[in-house]
Amino acid sequence: MAALIQWDNAKYSVKINSIDEQHKKLVALINQLFEAMSKGEAHEQLSAIIQELIKYTETHFGTEEAYFKKFGYDNSAEHENEHKKFVEQIKKFQSDFEVGSVTLSKDIIFFLKDWLINHICGTDQHYTDFLLSKGVK
Ligand SMILES: [Fe+2]
Repeated sequence: MAALIQWDNAKYSVKINSIDEQHKKLVALINQLFEAMSKGEAHEQLSAIIQELIKYTETHFGTEEAYFKKFGYDNSAEHENEHKKFVEQIKKFQSDFEVGSVTLSKDIIFFLKDWLINHICGTDQHYTDFLLSKGVK
């Protein structure tokens, strides 16, 4: 089965290796979730992937935000707000999924995919020069 998202370095790289690696892991988790859904895996399996995705998303946002704070990045408030809103959205989905009021659908997975790709290709690109100038690799 073809992966939902194929990592495209020319488009997705923020030119900071440590952050690219984290973005690749998020891509892998969304792919994993899509594959599990497509195979009709049980609620419990999907649940575990959703939990892992939320956990890793928070870890990753934490990494970026720690850099913003450490180096005094000017656009951090707006950027952090995007992170916060996204985490709220996926946690809301998670709780609805856990009580059974929604099922995991293609729409949800496409929302995750589009959000991540738009964020990586848009907002995240804005910190590249700044973080590179601070020696972040
Ligand atoms: Fe970000």
